[in-house]
Amino acid sequence: MNTANHYHQPDLLESILSKLKELGLDQKPITRQHLAAMDEFHLQGSAVSEELAGRLDLTSDSTVLDVGCGIGGPCRMLADDFGCTVTGIDYTEEYVRAARALTQIVRLTDKVEFQQANALQLPFEDETFGVVWTQHAQMNIADKAKFYSEIQRVLQPGGKFVYYDIFGTNEGEVYYPVPWAEVPENSHLIIHESVAGYFPDEYYQLEYSKDHTPNATDFLSGVLEKIRSGEAPQLGLNLLMRESTGKKLGNLLRCLREGKVEVYAGVYLKK
Ligand SMILES: C[S@@+](CC[C@H](N)C(=O)[O-])C[C@H]1O[C@@H](n2cnc3c(N)ncnc32)[C@H](O)[C@@H]1O
Repeated sequence: MNTANHYHQPDLLESILSKLKELGLDQKPITRQHLAAMDEFHLQGSAVSEELAGRLDLTSDSTVLDVGCGIGGPCRMLADDFGCTVTGIDYTEEYVRAARALTQIVRLTDKVEFQQANALQLPFEDETFGVVWTQHAQMNIADKAKFYSEIQRVLQPGGKFVYYDIFGTNEGEVYYPVPWAEVPENSHLIIHESVAGYFPDEYYQLEYSKDHTPNATDFLSGVLEKIRSGEAPQLGLNLLMRESTGKKLGNLLRCLREGKVEVYAGVYLKK
């Protein structure tokens, strides 16, 4: 199974729309808040995206690229809260389709657009974006050198690269399935320290770095508690991870607690 197959879900948009209908939300204006528990497919959801966005000096003139944008929740937040123009790219066709439809539903299409594309071959000219943003996509990508070099290529001088990702450690293999992979062949974890090797001091300045592991562990533990007690949001990440949601999140929590994975965010300024 490759990465595209891992996320492949032909009826994703239909299942989201039918859940909106089931909850009676299709009868009134749907807002970003209605989608919030589902449309940010990473640990700590919208809270961490808002925290990171606050570090980027975004204005209505900012142009942002989200690499591996999923169904586009962070893109919509960046456009809605900061007025910037956002482009999301993702490899998974159904995610791009859902991202476009949800953006139309919450009336943000004038500021946000999506393309189906591979992070390893970004369909943009050099130095197109003032900010390049990526969250929880890198773990699926084996060729880190190409991944970071494509990001650097499309980033303008004076622009910022922000990441929020899961990293491996020396504590051995993770437990599968995890949210980003059913099997080891789809998981490409590196240790966090190695990211700096792709961003030499001569060209990049590290502006911010934070170990989010404790917060992410607490967050995930809370999510699993809600799932166990039947209080999980109906319009939640279960729509993306389906019947294996509990298993994947449970394995990830175990990995976090046993030190097999860590969660870090960082911001680099391109000199
Ligand atoms: C766990 S989801 C995170 C989605 C989004 N960044 C978020 O935080 O809500 C990982 C995403 O990375 C995408 N992805 C994985 N490999 C990719 C690649 N080579 N190019 C583009 N997207 C990729 C997947 O399709 C999936 O949507």
